[in-house]
Amino acid sequence: MSRYIEIKTHPIRFLLYLEWILLLIVALTELLPDPVTKLPRLSLLNLFCVGSLFILGLKLPKVGRLDKLVYNIVEIGIILAASIAGEIRLFPVLYLILTIRSCWIFGKWKRLAIMVLAFVLFLVTLIYRFQTFTFPFRPAVPEKLEFILMGFAIFFGLVLVFLFLLVNAVLSDRQSREKLALANAEIRKYALKIEDMATLQESNRIACDIHDSLGDSLTALNLQIETALKLWRSHPTKAEYLLGEAKRLGSTALREVRESASKLRSDPLEGRGLQEAIAHLIQSFHSTTGVLPNCSIYLLNSIPVELKVSIYRILQEALTNICKHAQATHVEIQIMTTSTDIYLIIDDNGKGFNLKQNTTGIGLQGMRDRTQSLGGQLEIETSPRKGCRITASFPLLMGNG
Ligand SMILES: Nc1ncnc2c1ncn2[C@@H]1O[C@H](COP(=O)(O)OP(=O)(O)O)[C@@H](O)[C@H]1O
Ligand SMILES: [Mg+2]
Repeated sequence: MSRYIEIKTHPIRFLLYLEWILLLIVALTELLPDPVTKLPRLSLLNLFCVGSLFILGLKLPKVGRLDKLVYNIVEIGIILAASIAGEIRLFPVLYLILTIRSCWIFGKWKRLAIMVLAFVLFLVTLIYRFQTFTFPFRPAVPEKLEFILMGFAIFFGLVLVFLFLLVNAVLSDRQSREKLALANAEIRKYALKIEDMATLQESNRIACDIHDSLGDSLTALNLQIETALKLWRSHPTKAEYLLGEAKRLGSTALREVRESASKLRSDPLEGRGLQEAIAHLIQSFHSTTGVLPNCSIYLLNSIPVELKVSIYRILQEALTNICKHAQATHVEIQIMTTSTDIYLIIDDNGKGFNLKQNTTGIGLQGMRDRTQSLGGQLEIETSPRKGCRITASFPLLMGNG
């Protein structure tokens, strides 16, 4: 990392160019003829001082207290040499530049101290120059000159304060933008992390699903075949029955593999319409549980894809839950569309559960997350032995946007 603020790393480059223009004006006024002698004035000391200030502006110290202190002492020394020994004409401009530069290198309080110091040095220079100045004419009222001087000092003070506040405002605006950009980058990083975590959680869930369901079925299948093998000579009828059972278990395992795989797919609808995909879910639920859900579905064609996917996923999880936990004999599915919202309602008359005690399930939480991410709401009404009703509502306009 560079220890210096250079042209390409200068926080506000146009102010650097402004400094250069001011220094050029100071140098040019030195070339104008003297009003008393009418001879061109060419002070080499002053041109040297202006040149040095210009070069110093190309490299401002960014770190190191000592560097900064030495830098400012050198700058003040050059300005005093030009204003007092060289009697440079536009010396107030040099104090303005001193104040502007301090803003790039110091914190708030040190900047203020440099501004006050610049003003005090300006006053000292002004008084000194006033006392040593030989007037080409005798002013009629000498006190008037003091008033003019005082007015000039006040005017310079105001310009100094204005410039100081302006540079500080520009600088703090720049800093807050940088902070905002940093915060945005952090948020993006966290969003990616959360996405990764969500993916991991989903994979874990599917791994558990496969372990719990498929693992169970395959172990039982293995046992049935093993026993059938042992019995097929002595008890062929029993062996045949066991093989029949094994076949049933094999079909269950196959269905479970398909279900887990479908949960992994990024497009669960597989290009089908929502109605068709739902019909497929219902048919598979019917063949697994023997319960045919009662359906009333009213859907618009134009609903956004993410809404369709969420409706499908919520229904899929709800039916899986009914299949796994509810022991229901009656299931009702309703999808209703109004001019502003879509409602998905899944009702079962199963054993229900205590919502307050249910803290570990990812399935219900996933339903809630999906609904909320589309600006909707999920409501679960259930209690032990009273069945379960899940209502997901989505605003249509938000879904579209
Ligand atoms: N329709 C339902 N009928 C009875 N119990 C349910 C039903 N849906 C969910 N549950 C209960 O809520 C718990 C959490 O469900 P969920 O979050 O989907 O997790 P998981 O299905 O993996 O256990 C289930 O373990 C079950 O006890
Ligand atoms: Mg579940």
